[in-house]
Amino acid sequence: LKTNIESNCLIDQIRVGNFKNFSYLVGDPNSKEAAVFDPAWELSKILNLLKINSLHLKFIINTHSHMDHIEGNTELQNLTGARIVMSFKSLAKKDIGVKDDQELILGNNVRLRFLVTPGHSPDSMCIQVNDIAVMTGDTLFIGECGRVDLPGGDASDLYESFERIRRLDPKLIVYPGHDYGLKPSSTLKEQLENNYTLVKREKQDFIRFMNEP
Ligand SMILES: [Fe+2]
Repeated sequence: LKTNIESNCLIDQIRVGNFKNFSYLVGDPNSKEAAVFDPAWELSKILNLLKINSLHLKFIINTHSHMDHIEGNTELQNLTGARIVMSFKSLAKKDIGVKDDQELILGNNVRLRFLVTPGHSPDSMCIQVNDIAVMTGDTLFIGECGRVDLPGGDASDLYESFERIRRLDPKLIVYPGHDYGLKPSSTLKEQLENNYTLVKREKQDFIRFMNEP
């Protein structure tokens, strides 16, 4: 398991389960406060990382409430007492419902900014971590984007969410919810240039594009 320390913020990408899911661990190395994103399938990997880094889990954050992203919530909460954070739009069990542009802080150093980005699901969010990274869940994958044909999915919403993502700092590292790309992460700049789903389109063209088989 790898540990990247960038800009006084610890970020780990953790491959879990049989559906190429990524969980993430984000920590403040000074206060030792941490957040886990989308815990599922292999909690032992997450618990081990918390232990070896002496981290205290403060938040369990879900990019959206599909089962393969929240499956470990209850067990991890029972083991750690961390509070569950989801979009205010989510109907799943949570302690904190966050709104667009709301922030949570780990220690004094790590700022988590929530961007409500529906499209793949009504409660999809992206979460920016300092000026380093953005967790995109199933909204944006490396070289792909999330499907919109599941219940609550909406291509028009995804279009608006992509407009939002375009305005973020292109230097951010994109950390997706699944390992569906040629590599596990990429910069937003690289995705804006190479991801065919992010090609600039008129809204009607994008909706047509997303509804093609
Ligand atoms: Fe999903």
